[in-house]
Amino acid sequence: MALLPGGSVGRTLFVPLVGGRVSPLSRWRCKGRALRRGVLGDLDDIVRIERLCFADGAWKVEDLEKQFDYSFAKILVFDDSFGESGEPPSAVGFLLFWETGDEVQLMRLGVEPHFQGQGIGSMLLNHLVTESDRRRTYTLEVRESNDGARTFYRRLGFNDIAVRQRYYSDGENAILMQRRIEEVVEKSTV
Ligand SMILES: CC(C)(COP(=O)(O)OP(=O)(O)OC[C@H]1O[C@@H](n2cnc3c(N)ncnc32)[C@H](O)[C@@H]1OP(=O)(O)O)[C@@H](O)C(=O)NCCC(=O)NCCS
Repeated sequence: MALLPGGSVGRTLFVPLVGGRVSPLSRWRCKGRALRRGVLGDLDDIVRIERLCFADGAWKVEDLEKQFDYSFAKILVFDDSFGESGEPPSAVGFLLFWETGDEVQLMRLGVEPHFQGQGIGSMLLNHLVTESDRRRTYTLEVRESNDGARTFYRRLGFNDIAVRQRYYSDGENAILMQRRIEEVVEKSTV
């Protein structure tokens, strides 16, 4: 994926948000909010968001840390407050995905509860989709009972395609959802 260069270090490379859309990568800040590539220095924020969003189902710190070593794993984060209060930026949302061939698997998506409902989840996901190769297929698993997330993904063009019985360790089913870019483009042009 070409949206952000690999190897960016620290919190210096930002993608400013313009009118709800993401402009090409540049170095300026935009009203304290920025979407950018996640780096190892974001691990504490990611762990915090993960725990707030998933409680007992949160990934372990070491499993999250390993993602930074995998060449196929990418993380986008959304910072809030940078530049407004003088405080260092703090990630309030993140998206972890794995790229394998033509497929993108969404592994984790979380927005701090206090920041939910402000379009941050949509920005993270839309940025990934619009900046990626349009032939790609995007898949994810979501808990059957997670109505909020299922509504969110449907709104962003994902469809239910299968049920994975007793997928989670507590016995809950997972719904496999998929978005194929060509289908979305075709539908929108009919
Ligand atoms: C799912 C999640 C990532 C959405 O992020 P968000 O920033 O709150 O979502 P947005 O503000 O971009 O919402 C976009 C649209 O999705 C839908 N939506 C989002 N959350 C919803 C909810 N809880 N219930 C119903 N619809 C919801 C709405 O239609 C919303 O549009 P609207 O605000 O105009 O009505 C976030 O709620 C979250 O982190 N949840 C906990 C973790 C989780 O369940 N992750 C997904 C696991 S697979």
